[in-house]
Amino acid sequence: MRKRIRTHQARLGMYVEEVESRRDDKTYKEGFLIASPEELADIHNSKIISLVINTKNGADLAADETAASHETALLSRFSSNEIHAAKAIIKETKPVIRHLFSEARLSGLPDLDSAHLVADHIVETAQDSVVAIIGVSRLKSRDESTYLHSLAVSALMVSFGRALGLSEASVRTLAVGGLLHDIGKMAVPVEILSSRKKLSGEELAIVRSHPARGHEMLRQFDDVPPLVLEICLHHHERHDGRGYPFGLKGNGIPFAARLAAICDVYEAMTTIRPYKPAWSSTEAIGVMLQSHGQFDPSLLRRFLSMVLSGETV
Ligand SMILES: [Fe+2]
Repeated sequence: MRKRIRTHQARLGMYVEEVESRRDDKTYKEGFLIASPEELADIHNSKIISLVINTKNGADLAADETAASHETALLSRFSSNEIHAAKAIIKETKPVIRHLFSEARLSGLPDLDSAHLVADHIVETAQDSVVAIIGVSRLKSRDESTYLHSLAVSALMVSFGRALGLSEASVRTLAVGGLLHDIGKMAVPVEILSSRKKLSGEELAIVRSHPARGHEMLRQFDDVPPLVLEICLHHHERHDGRGYPFGLKGNGIPFAARLAAICDVYEAMTTIRPYKPAWSSTEAIGVMLQSHGQFDPSLLRRFLSMVLSGETV
């Protein structure tokens, strides 16, 4: 089985098939065994960002290494009460979010009451526990990925909105927008969404239709706030105009969608999956700062200071 790992996770006995280097932003095909401590040290000290290993030909990651180190990191940042509260909220809201999404898939009509219920739950929770939700939901299995991503983006939007000094009414609307930003993915066939192969041009176009499909779903209701519609339709626009669906530029992209773009990418990058190592929060921000033109630069700096000051994780 092929697995992408972070450089620091490389171990003796692993068989490396690809290396991604920071030196020139390229991926190289390789095929070698990490056979000596010296070779391992060379990798750890190199400009390699990540490696793809093949566990058929060599050693694997320790099975629970990712989960265990995540648990340790959580305990160093949060009290056990905060972690307990976050886990309780996740347990309670997961079936509600699942219902919201499955209704959208089955009937094309998302159950908006579910979104409002979860948004209320998040904004009524103490801010420290909102941050703990982001931390706890970082570790996701494949089947809970969609729900936990939406919940964590929502919690990030709440934290970011508050750090920016927005009104609590706006913060609540951002929470709803975070939950619904990817609802249009429920109009994309599951085989395409869950495919781990490289998508064809046609399949990619279908995936990229999700903002418009979500927007269509939400427009069937007459009480969805404009902010939520904007987040859904424009969260993949880029600051430099190279995003989709409309290629809007700079301040032409609605403010809430610019916030959502940052929270969405940050959440995806810091997500820990059994088969995919995560970026640390500062590594993720570092990469986002270097991805020139993707994000609103002044909002990204505000987001960075929120992360560095510990207001979020
Ligand atoms: Fe999306």
